[in-house]
Amino acid sequence: MSELERQIDELAEILRTGPRIAVLTGAGISAESGIPTFRGKDGLWREFRAEELATPQAFFGNPGLVWQWYDWRRGIIGAKEPHAGHYVLARWERHFPDFVLITQNVDGFHRRAGSRNVLELHGNIWEIRCTREGTIAENTECPFREIPPHCPSCGALLRPNVVWFGESLPSETLEEATAASATCEVMFVIGTSAYVQPAASLPVIAAERGAKVVEINPEPTPLSSTADFSFQAKAGEILPLIDERLLAGRTGT
Ligand code: OAD
Repeated sequence: MSELERQIDELAEILRTGPRIAVLTGAGISAESGIPTFRGKDGLWREFRAEELATPQAFFGNPGLVWQWYDWRRGIIGAKEPHAGHYVLARWERHFPDFVLITQNVDGFHRRAGSRNVLELHGNIWEIRCTREGTIAENTECPFREIPPHCPSCGALLRPNVVWFGESLPSETLEEATAASATCEVMFVIGTSAYVQPAASLPVIAAERGAKVVEINPEPTPLSSTADFSFQAKAGEILPLIDERLLAGRTGT
């Protein structure tokens, strides 16, 4: 038996006891769907880093430029599909009695894969918000006819309903995510560089409260050395392997 198989067996045995589970995902889980990560080599749009465009200052300084970036990202996301890893997490929501999925991703893939309760810490790229009235609407227009788009009712600028650097996360969502992290027995950390706060603190909270931390990421992160299980591989490969092992144990095969 390889070291990987041994680790998966050990983890599947823990999962078979039906522990309380929290999962934190980041851009890496969507990488295999063909969405560039933020800090990966393909994460740049033109010459800009996310930190330069995903801010209120950038938006109000040059809304057209920032909307072009979102329009480009919506175009990529809209043309791609969730993958096996997203589907495993959607199945686990129905399988485990206590399962909370927390994501930093704004792409909506978890919902498209069938996950129903998703705590979207950074919002959703398929929603728009009026900068004057604060009204939020679903919007899948892609590409936009008019950039930057304006509110049909009051004429003010519309913005993507996402959280930008320097802005607060939706407080209720963050509270729920923190509570789930503090009370879970197993925390999966999948495809995040564990760099952007406050999301990066959630696995730390879980570990401090005694949860087993399971990281899935082909690259080492600040969490890797302290994680109980560190799978340095792709989410779309490891999650189905764990799921298969879990099901094999249940049916006795
Ligand atoms: P990053 O781009 O910082 O990190 C993506 C992580 O995914 C890296 O650690 C990669 O090694 C890993 N990765 C790549 N391919 C993978 C795969 N197939 N399976 C598993 N992991 C893989 O993305 P985030 O950590 O999500 O915020 O970034 C956090 C936040 O910073 C984003 O939500 C966004 C960004 O700026 C805002 O826009 C507010």
